[in-house]
Amino acid sequence: MSVDLAVVPVAGRGTRLLPLAKSQPKEMLPMGRKPVVQYVVEELARCGIGRVLFVTGPGKAAIENHFDIDVELIDYLRETGKEELLRELAFEREDLEYFYTRQRRQLGLGHAVLCARAVVGDQPFVVALGDSIIGMHAESKVVRTMIEKFEASRAAAVIAFEEVPPREVVHYGIAQPRDGADEVFELADLIEKPDANEAPSNLAVASRYVFSPAIFDCLERTPPGKGDEIQLTDAVSMLIRDGRNVLGIRLRADERRFDIGNFESYFLAFTEFALADPQYGPALRKHMKELLAP
Ligand code: G1P
Repeated sequence: MSVDLAVVPVAGRGTRLLPLAKSQPKEMLPMGRKPVVQYVVEELARCGIGRVLFVTGPGKAAIENHFDIDVELIDYLRETGKEELLRELAFEREDLEYFYTRQRRQLGLGHAVLCARAVVGDQPFVVALGDSIIGMHAESKVVRTMIEKFEASRAAAVIAFEEVPPREVVHYGIAQPRDGADEVFELADLIEKPDANEAPSNLAVASRYVFSPAIFDCLERTPPGKGDEIQLTDAVSMLIRDGRNVLGIRLRADERRFDIGNFESYFLAFTEFALADPQYGPALRKHMKELLAP
């Protein structure tokens, strides 16, 4: 059976988004009409994922509530003649199973993925970070392509990458390609948040991974790294040192990543999504033109 399980880590505190994300999960921030994490789940469903395992933490209950079927709200909309709004809740009926586990201590992204081990067991799985959307309105199928490459190549991991300006490499896991960096390339190493002058490339991990369960053994052995956290990047690096094949795949130009982990990228992403809204986008565009007119 093809890979159909995705682990979505959503336990991070969102400290780069304070005070906005103080008492609401950053993954629930609006991106136009929908919260970020709804886009992530819709993208995964479109790519053939049938089971989503959230790794949650303190203050993240709103995410669980969002994916519940809200019978009271449905009844209320019917009884008050607002049936047309029911289509806004269609995502609740997506053919997906949801699972939740907790990261009980904030020890980093690698540790969050390790918390999924008991549920994932001995099967390959996707990791999709809950604070990034791939493609306008999440219309990217890159995860499907990654799964197909994973299955065809017997690689131990396939990771999505996006080119970033040199000043931004310090925010991401950065690829060291083995030879050239074609559309699909082999990794010689992966380095978490290097300084610009030490970065082996400007190809940044773009929040989507496919892993063989072998990653769990590496995560078990991974000591705290950057920021004193157990880094997923360091476990991937260990996988490569263990002699396993790890592939990178570049996002296509129409599959940009919208990262909402900090204010700069969140503001840009929100604006683009709102401008692309079929109903309200044109008025917003007009308003912005007026605002920006000299
Ligand atoms: C994490 C990963 C990093 C990756 C990034 C993608 O960093 O550690 O390798 O490039 O997500 O958004 P974070 O944003 O959690 O600091």
